[in-house]
Amino acid sequence: MWSPAISFEKGSLAVSGLSARQLAKEFGTPTFFIDEDHFRARAAAWARSLESHFGASAGEVYYAAKAFICIDIARWIKEEGIGIDVCTGGELAVALAGGIDPKKIEVHGNNKSLAEIDRAVSVGVKTIVIDSLYEIERVAASAAKHGVRQGVLLRLTPGVQAHTHESISTAHEDVKFGFSIASGAASAAVAQVLQHSCLELRGFHCHVGSQIFGTDSFELAATRIIALMKSVKNEHGIELPELDLGGGYAIAYLPGDVTVEPEDVLPSLSAVVKRECAAAGLALPIISIEPGRNIVGPTTFTLYEVGTVKEVLLEDGRTRRYISVDGGMSDNIRTSLYDAKYFAVLADRTSDAPSALSRVVGKHCETGDIVIRDIELPADIAPGDLLATPATGAYGRSMASNYNHVPRPPVVAIRNGKARVIVRRENEADLLALDVKE
Ligand code: LLP
Repeated sequence: MWSPAISFEKGSLAVSGLSARQLAKEFGTPTFFIDEDHFRARAAAWARSLESHFGASAGEVYYAAKAFICIDIARWIKEEGIGIDVCTGGELAVALAGGIDPKKIEVHGNNKSLAEIDRAVSVGVKTIVIDSLYEIERVAASAAKHGVRQGVLLRLTPGVQAHTHESISTAHEDVKFGFSIASGAASAAVAQVLQHSCLELRGFHCHVGSQIFGTDSFELAATRIIALMKSVKNEHGIELPELDLGGGYAIAYLPGDVTVEPEDVLPSLSAVVKRECAAAGLALPIISIEPGRNIVGPTTFTLYEVGTVKEVLLEDGRTRRYISVDGGMSDNIRTSLYDAKYFAVLADRTSDAPSALSRVVGKHCETGDIVIRDIELPADIAPGDLLATPATGAYGRSMASNYNHVPRPPVVAIRNGKARVIVRRENEADLLALDVKE
């Protein structure tokens, strides 16, 4: 679950030889630390595995920027040669600022603004994933205005119930995303796109959900979409050349969890896609994927300093230790939002103290400001100790807020024993910067 570079040396956490205490001293807390080599290796592993299982039909690995993006990471993505999936104009701006070739960019969003569509078309992104009938007309109008033929995919909901938290399950029928296959909406959208000569319908996209273990839901989605590709061929006489199966591959958050690796899923996924295409009499389309969490999640941990500790007597006679850290729901909203589970370790020293039922909470003015609801931690944890929570790379900093006017933490990349800030800490001036003062 930890990055390979992260280890316990003499009982305290160290990354590439840098101790948690040193890191806290130099960069302050809370801080997100990302292992750059691990990020790069995970990105490259997905690309290699896609290539090895789909051969000439291997498309792009589009890193899902929503998990976490900044300019430096956009550069790593460029250097690793993979693509990027952006879902807002802001994410597109970061990708471009990082020098990513627009031909490696895919644009998502269920409610892209006209300005976002126009920017994407005008910079020449490879693909816009269309999410509604309105958007077909909007993208077509923008492509016509710029005199280009824009590559598009249609986002589909294949009626698959992914086994994950409801808020991050995205391909069943009752969702805001995409066109339903079952209701005929997808077929109608195909017909509508084909009326526009300035749109190049390259195929379909589907994202079944997030933090998914196993391959069943991906395979069922692929099977249903390939059946639709066959009916498109029968009806319109065209074979759509591309299928993007989205992201969603799960990672380990707790000891004992196992992060999904590309070789755990792509062999069976490729077998199902090949089998279904052969049965449908279709050539194998280009297959793309969009892992976000799986690439960045395991590479990062958050380092907090403990501020106060309080013992609370529970109704059943037990005692719970409330360990308050110097961040909370503003840097990790996932516990309150999805009941997500995290783990924490005492990062700056060893302890022989017995473990005690603990709750790691933040500094926000809210009872729900919980980082870890229940965890056994050494009973001698005290103010000034450092706590590290692993696997916070995905949807941690990217969903961070300024709630209670708390400055968002920095992101520090570690490589070859050197740590450098890639996103600086917000300061009081940042917090006041948007207020109109006259
Ligand atoms: N592609 C599309 C179209 C998506 O909507 C998403 C995630 C991904 C790829 C990447 O999914 P991943 O591989 O990271 O699971 N904030 C939630 C996750 C929301 C994901 C939304 N879409 C969380 O913290 O769990």
